[in-house]
Amino acid sequence: MSEEKIEGIDYFVDLQPETDDFLSTVLDGLSQSQKTIPPKFFYDAIGSKIFDKICEAPEYYVTRTEIALMKEIGEEINSLVEPKSIVVEYGCGSSLKIRALLSALPDPAEYLAIDISKSHLILTIKEIAADYPNLRVGAICADFSDALDWPEQARSEHDQRLAFFPGSTIGNQTPKEALEFLTRMRHMVGDQGSLLIGVDLKKNTEVLNSAYNDAAGYTAEFNLNLLQRMKKELDAELDISNFEHDAFYNEELGRIEMHLISQLDQTIQVGGQNFEFKKGETIHTENSYKYSIEEFSELAQKSGFAPVKAWTDADNLFSIHYMSAV
Ligand code: AVJ
Repeated sequence: MSEEKIEGIDYFVDLQPETDDFLSTVLDGLSQSQKTIPPKFFYDAIGSKIFDKICEAPEYYVTRTEIALMKEIGEEINSLVEPKSIVVEYGCGSSLKIRALLSALPDPAEYLAIDISKSHLILTIKEIAADYPNLRVGAICADFSDALDWPEQARSEHDQRLAFFPGSTIGNQTPKEALEFLTRMRHMVGDQGSLLIGVDLKKNTEVLNSAYNDAAGYTAEFNLNLLQRMKKELDAELDISNFEHDAFYNEELGRIEMHLISQLDQTIQVGGQNFEFKKGETIHTENSYKYSIEEFSELAQKSGFAPVKAWTDADNLFSIHYMSAV
């Protein structure tokens, strides 16, 4: 662990998170009977740009619905959270969301950002510090899903700590993993703490399927970019046109699954190893779990948070839950 001085930032703690090695994760994932590559590898510079395009696709309601809902409920959030709160954001994504929250809160005292990418983290906190001059701004560079302790540089424990986890990123985890993660957030915010979390809702299968199969093909491009990365970064020998994007709602498990389907019997090569595919065999690249309000409330209660209020947009596409520690 090391503390660094960053101009305009009150504290910066670098826990030097192990960034998972792409090569070893791919070799390991392709050796399993259901081949798999975890979704965090989607977000290289190119993948992050494609993700921004997905967010603008008409079928992908997730991001725009959450941002609109955040703005709609600003006044209610204002009345629920005490003045001088400390906002802890798990993974800094689109700064539109944290800005909507900070602008809604009554005189927030501090923003603590946690992200695995040091460069992204520094950019985000510098922007926020510049635009909110009265806010104390600190950061921990860490894998936010690891167990973390409250940093000693942060404001005292008397202030209300609010964990913020937007984007339905919680949906990438299985319900069991999500419960473990909620428990960690509960530990981090302490007994006076609370949680504001965005969770995508269960809904009509066609709406879900088209959100992950947009007509412009951005989601396909996003998924296939994993193969592009393997070629560029790992010198993989494979023909991208021999794979196709597949995304579908698995109703039984309540999740969108994304896969890359092999279009023929083929062998690809990565890191000096051969991997065989049968025609129709897939690499599983993402799960995106969907929850009803009740399902998510029930899960969160097991982690020591009690539901206070949950909001949805007029079309019941997306939910935001506010919960407080019990
Ligand atoms: C960022 C995990 C919320 O699951 O909807 C979008 C990622 N994947 N299209 C999601 C994603 C394909 C997204 N999350």
